[in-house]
Amino acid sequence: MVQPAQLKKIAVFASGTGTNALEIIRHFSGHDSARVRLVLCNRPGAGVIQHALNHDIPLTLFKRRELATTILDDLVRSQIDFIVLAGFLLKIPESVVEAFPDKIINIHPALLPKYGGKGMYGQRVHEAVIAAGDKESGITIHLVNEFYDEGEPVFQATCPVTPDDTPKSLARKVQQLEHQHYPKIIEQLLS
Ligand code: GRF
Repeated sequence: MVQPAQLKKIAVFASGTGTNALEIIRHFSGHDSARVRLVLCNRPGAGVIQHALNHDIPLTLFKRRELATTILDDLVRSQIDFIVLAGFLLKIPESVVEAFPDKIINIHPALLPKYGGKGMYGQRVHEAVIAAGDKESGITIHLVNEFYDEGEPVFQATCPVTPDDTPKSLARKVQQLEHQHYPKIIEQLLS
């Protein structure tokens, strides 16, 4: 039996609604080897803040320029083992990537390397997939390096894009895949 002090510590960074953050928090609450110990957010008013409060998870609100300084110090001091980006829109600075080698992952709502990079998030991704006439889309979970969406992929899952799909309906299919797989892949990477 893992003692509470030995549970792996996960930090979740999110800027938005936080539906993935919520799934991850739930998955690991009561889990036998890891917990979400910290939620970090750079957008006051973001939905993820309420999820952290509801689950008694310490929350840090910060500004972009603090990422490579106070936030990095906090992560190291809190002995965070693994960093999960869940709808986090800022680029992770090199110093943070170097301090947590292969210990930071992100989820992208499309099949990278297509439809990634700066500015490709939210509805824009699904609009681009539909405009290109792709027959499938999906999710990519990947390690994070200092370039947007370019770290090594660790997992992909697909869903069909049908002729009647709109960006909104495709977003719903992709979100289902995210919630289904992201917590489990984090668990696998931690073990
Ligand atoms: C997800 O679609 C994820 O793939 C992307 O940002 C979105 C976050 O959604 N990186 P939510 O805030 O977890 O609902």
